[in-house]
Amino acid sequence: EGAVGFTGEHQAGIVTPAQDRLHFVAFDVITKDRERLVGMLKDWTTAAARMTAGRDAGEIGAVGGIPEAPPDDTGEALGLPPSALTITVGFGPTLFRDATGKDRFGIAARRPEALADLPHFAGDRLDEAISGGDLCVQACANDPQVAVHAIRNLARIGMGVVSVRWSQLGFGRTSSTSTTQATPRNLFGFKDGTSNLKLEETELLREHLWVQPGDGPEWMTGGSYLVSRKIRMIVETWDRSSLAEQEMIVGRRKGSGAPLGKTGEFEEPDLDARGADGEPVLAVNSHVRLAHPNTNGGARLLRRGYNFVDGSDGLGRLDAGLFFVAYQRDPRKQFVPIQRSLSRSDEMNEYLKPVSQALFACPPGVTGPVDFWGRALF
Ligand code: HEM
Repeated sequence: EGAVGFTGEHQAGIVTPAQDRLHFVAFDVITKDRERLVGMLKDWTTAAARMTAGRDAGEIGAVGGIPEAPPDDTGEALGLPPSALTITVGFGPTLFRDATGKDRFGIAARRPEALADLPHFAGDRLDEAISGGDLCVQACANDPQVAVHAIRNLARIGMGVVSVRWSQLGFGRTSSTSTTQATPRNLFGFKDGTSNLKLEETELLREHLWVQPGDGPEWMTGGSYLVSRKIRMIVETWDRSSLAEQEMIVGRRKGSGAPLGKTGEFEEPDLDARGADGEPVLAVNSHVRLAHPNTNGGARLLRRGYNFVDGSDGLGRLDAGLFFVAYQRDPRKQFVPIQRSLSRSDEMNEYLKPVSQALFACPPGVTGPVDFWGRALF
C-alpha cells in the first residue's frame, strides 16, 4: 500500500484521508540543552521522511550494520509496505515556558497567543499524568505495527533528550477527512465525521484550519493547532438506553446518520424545525445542536479522532472510548467555545468521562532535505 508524501506546505497527517490506526505520543523534554533538542528535531525529521516512504528509520537499517552495534532501526516493520504512514509533530505550551515559568530554550517570546493553556471545563476530572506534554507525535497508518514502529523509533532516537510522558493507541478512525471516504462509526455505534471539514474544501480549510499570515508569529503560518481529549465512553450504560433515546442525544439517525427530521446523511441539520408537538426536532441539548457552527459563532473543526479500548477497568466494564483529536486555526475561537457549549449541557455527558487533554502547535510542513520540524521557531 502506497506512501503519503512527506514534504509540503503543511504537515501530512492533518487533511490526509484519515487512516485506520493511530499511535499518538506526548513527550517531555528532559535536556536543558537547546542544541540537543534542535539536533533531535533534525534527526526526527530525517527518520520520519524515511519511515513514511516505507524505509528503515536509519541509513544502515535493522540488519545491515556490524554485529557489535545496536541497529539504527528496530526491525518490526521490515517487509511491511508504507501503509499510508504519516508522522505529525506538535509543540506544547510547556516547551515555551515550563511549569515553574522557566524559558528553558529561549523561545518563550515566540509562543503564539493561540497556544494559551486550555481552560477548565465543567465536569472534567483530568489525569495530569496523561495530559499535556512538551512535544507530541501523531503517527497514523493503515497497519498498527507501522504506526507503533514509527513512534518507537522516534522515542529511541530521542533517548536522553525526551522521555515518553503518555501514549495512546487507536484502532478505528472516527472521522473522515475526505469526501472520498465512507463515514466510519464510533463506539456508540453512530456515524462520526459526517459534518467534518474535508480535504476538498480548500476555502473552508483556509478559514478554519490553517494558520494564516498575520495570525501570530510567522513560524506557525501554514501550521495548525491540535487539541486532544481522551474521553472514556461508558458503553455499558449507553447500551441499555433505547434507540430513540440514543438518536435524540446525538441528534442523528443511528442507521443512516441523517440529522433528525431529514433523510440523507449529508443533509444539513435544521436547528429551527419543530415537530407536531411544537418541540424542536433536534433536542435543545443534543450533541449535534450544541456542536453545530450556528450555536458557536460559526466555529468549525477538523476532527481526526480514533476509537480505543484499553482493556477493562476491573469493575466488569470495558475501558473504552474516543481519543478525540481536532485541528484548527485558533483553539480560543474554535475548540474552546464548542467544548464550553458541550460541557454545559450535552445530554451525551451522562455517558462520557473525559480523562485527559492536551494542546499542541503543529508547525507547517518541511519543504525539503535541509528543512526540519520547527526550523523557523529555533
Ligand atoms: C458531531 C459523537 C465529542 C465536536 C458528532 C456526531 C457524532 C459525534 C455521532 C455526528 C456526526 C458528525 O457530524 O460527525 C461524539 C462522541 C464524542 C464527541 C461520541 C465523545 C466521546 C466531541 C467533542 C467535540 C465534538 C469533544 C468538540 C469539542 C463535534 C462537532 C460535530 C460533532 C463540531 C459536528 C456538528 C455539526 O456541524 O453538525 N459527534 N462527539 N464532539 N461533534 Fe462530536
